[in-house]
Amino acid sequence: MHVLVLCGGKSAEHEVSFLSAASVLDTLDPAKYRVSVIGIQRDGSLYPPEATVDRLKLDSPEKFQFPSGENWVCLLADLKPETVFPVLHGPFGEDGTIQGILEVLDIPYVGAGVWGSAVGMNKIHSKKILLEEGLPVLPFISIPQTEWQERAEDFLKLVAGKLHYPVFVKPANLGSSIGINKSASRDDLIQHIEAAFRYDDFILVEQGIEAREIETSVLGNSRPEVSIAGEIIPSREFYTYEAKYLDQGSQLLIPAPLSGKEMKRVQELSIATFKALQLEGMARIDFLMDKKTGQFWVNEPNTIPGFTQISMYPKLWEASGLSYPDLLDKLIDLGLERYRRRSRFSVER
Ligand SMILES: Nc1ncnc2c1ncn2[C@@H]1O[C@H](COP(=O)(O)OP(=O)(O)O)[C@@H](O)[C@H]1O
Ligand SMILES: [Mg+2]
Repeated sequence: MHVLVLCGGKSAEHEVSFLSAASVLDTLDPAKYRVSVIGIQRDGSLYPPEATVDRLKLDSPEKFQFPSGENWVCLLADLKPETVFPVLHGPFGEDGTIQGILEVLDIPYVGAGVWGSAVGMNKIHSKKILLEEGLPVLPFISIPQTEWQERAEDFLKLVAGKLHYPVFVKPANLGSSIGINKSASRDDLIQHIEAAFRYDDFILVEQGIEAREIETSVLGNSRPEVSIAGEIIPSREFYTYEAKYLDQGSQLLIPAPLSGKEMKRVQELSIATFKALQLEGMARIDFLMDKKTGQFWVNEPNTIPGFTQISMYPKLWEASGLSYPDLLDKLIDLGLERYRRRSRFSVER
């Protein structure tokens, strides 16, 4: 089967994407798959093949094809791989845009579809849907930039009435903790709101809690399965960009030290979240567990989680009895299953 791996991309997780992609390439079974790789630059254009090879730092790049061309969308249309594995984190990859291109080109792909990707990436809309489904989401207030400019004081009153310090301020559509700040006072809050608007037209202000960071891996389409949960112990005050990618100090605990009852609860919430957001293929579901009360809050889904050898998503599956190569086979099968199912829908009246 011809599988094409997409990596790089227009996002702050550009470099991380190459690390994830290199692990995926190392793991895909050459007896089953003929693999080609397309690297996308930070400006959205195609990398020359040598540049993609350099960034991936592969032991044996000769095992893979690195097609060249003017434009990667045209290249995809020409190559028509049997399936695409988008290993692109963050905006322009994880948010439904690339999935839309693949739908239009009629190419099967791994992971959530257009809608699940777009909603999964959007912290405001995903939380609204989870609330509607009765899932536990921390109280929050969303603020559109135009309205902030017109009536900031109203929003500050709203925050004061509904939340208490500390609060977290986040751009609606990003990842990697970029633009996220913890505000301890009204002055902080104003400054952090202005900062978050540098990244998005929509932001949210969310109730802050003292939390343990618990994560699970979900796999499947209409009958998703969940791994055991893991825990992250961040090296900083919270799980910032530095703690995620720059420090060596953050720790992964697998399994998370939870009681049997807690483990079961977080697993049930994971499946319910995956279904509520109509996700497909895979997602890592992140929770905040209140250190005082033990209550679980759904923080966010990640529809294209990290895929390096030491990333939580494949590690949790390994610890749950599913090896990394078998996981990749399953993900590809699930993408093909979705494609076949959807191609049966009628377009006739
Ligand atoms: N409401 C909150 N209370 C406490 N910590 C939070 C809260 N929201 C976010 N955090 C901290 O900030 C980190 C990043 O926030 P998150 O919403 O996961 O954004 P991203 O999509 O960038 O990962 C979390 O992993 C956690 O450490
Ligand atoms: Mg997160």
